[in-house]
Amino acid sequence: MKTWGGRFTEHMDSVFERFNNSFDTDQRLIFEDIEGSMAYASTLERAGILSPEELKQIGKGLADIKKRVEKDPGWLSGQKDEDVHSFVEARLHEIVGDVALKLHTGWCRNDQLSLDTRLCLKRAIIRVQVQIKSLNRSILNLSKTHLDVIIPGYTHLRKAQPVLFSHYLLAYFEMFQRDYDRFDDCFRRTDFMPLGSGALAGSGFPVDREALRKELGFAQLTRNSVDAVSDRDYLVEFVSGAALTLVHLSRLAEDFIIYSSTEFGLLELSDTVTTGSSLMPQKKNPDSLELIRGKAGRVFGHLMSLLTLLKGLPMAYNKDLQEDKEILFDTLDTLVECLQVAETVAKTTNVNRTVARECVQRDFLNATDLADYLVGKGLPFRKAHELVGKIVLHCEAHKIPLDALPLAEFQSFSELIGDDVYTALSLENCIQSRSVVGGTARSRVLEAIEEAEKRLAIGE
Ligand code: ARG
Repeated sequence: MKTWGGRFTEHMDSVFERFNNSFDTDQRLIFEDIEGSMAYASTLERAGILSPEELKQIGKGLADIKKRVEKDPGWLSGQKDEDVHSFVEARLHEIVGDVALKLHTGWCRNDQLSLDTRLCLKRAIIRVQVQIKSLNRSILNLSKTHLDVIIPGYTHLRKAQPVLFSHYLLAYFEMFQRDYDRFDDCFRRTDFMPLGSGALAGSGFPVDREALRKELGFAQLTRNSVDAVSDRDYLVEFVSGAALTLVHLSRLAEDFIIYSSTEFGLLELSDTVTTGSSLMPQKKNPDSLELIRGKAGRVFGHLMSLLTLLKGLPMAYNKDLQEDKEILFDTLDTLVECLQVAETVAKTTNVNRTVARECVQRDFLNATDLADYLVGKGLPFRKAHELVGKIVLHCEAHKIPLDALPLAEFQSFSELIGDDVYTALSLENCIQSRSVVGGTARSRVLEAIEEAEKRLAIGE
């Protein structure tokens, strides 16, 4: 059954018909579509367009469709309907007869799909947020387990300064918390009930929009019917929030790929998230992380598609907008999967303490601390920097670490240096002295962990 057709005299071209149909994709909205239909039927009854008896029939018909899909989701595959809205309407007609023909009074697929998408998106956001929290829980646990491990912090992928492994990991906790908050914002702007907007001008029937809002669990009503059916900015926000989360996930993935390589050896990935090579028996490849990194590109593509789809569209609804759902669903599925896999990686990765220890003892990670020490003795920082550069050059030439340079040699560079320099150069001091808020000192990291625990507990 077509939901339109009266003014047509010819059949639709079969290739175009397939091209036009979106049921294969938007059938995912079936429960939202039924929910919206139920609520809308009630308002029609209150407006005197359906009798109480007709409302009952429609309600039962819709409930039957819902039950059937729940029992046999396979029922949906291969159906030839134009889209999910026409599918529900057609099945309802088969079940309850001509009373179904009244359901779409003053109602258009334009506001219907805006409702379905918003309902679906609100649930999707909650699902993503639960998954982000769960990933952050495992990141927090990993940082608690390895509180005493010191690793090299890098800039330009060159060793820079020592940091606690926990401190490094908590950087990701912060990124994912911000992602979580961004999804909160997106939720707020999605939480507007559009029914009653009709095709674009607003319904010509006295639809009780406020009652619909309450029944469908929305915070507010859309305020302009043209806007309600034509913009998809809430989807852009979601996909862009997803893209940003994937930026963060892909950086974590890249770090773990590098840190778990034999060249670095800081981390060891578990067998559960790695694969072998069909040719080289020794290989253990970080495919889980590589896929996360790769899938980020896919979601960035979705963001660009969506923006391009919306750009320059004349008001109000245009069929181009039908393309939004594949983007939404694939973004959601990809993001949730990546978050789940990242969580498994975080739960199963081991840190190699011995390698970490060796790693931080080489390559002058404490050079800044020597400069800071000299500042403490009264030397201006720029001078101290210059001098330490020279000492490093000397140590490099003699292949010794800074803290193994004999005092007399230190003093040949500067008389300001005393034997307290060795304490200043110790790894423990390098960490301990970074005790500003947000720094890597153990006490600060402990505080950060405690804070993180509290932030995770919010809303639980
Ligand atoms: N399947 C369509 C979509 O997702 C439904 C809206 C149809 N509306 C219309 N005016 N043709 O965009």
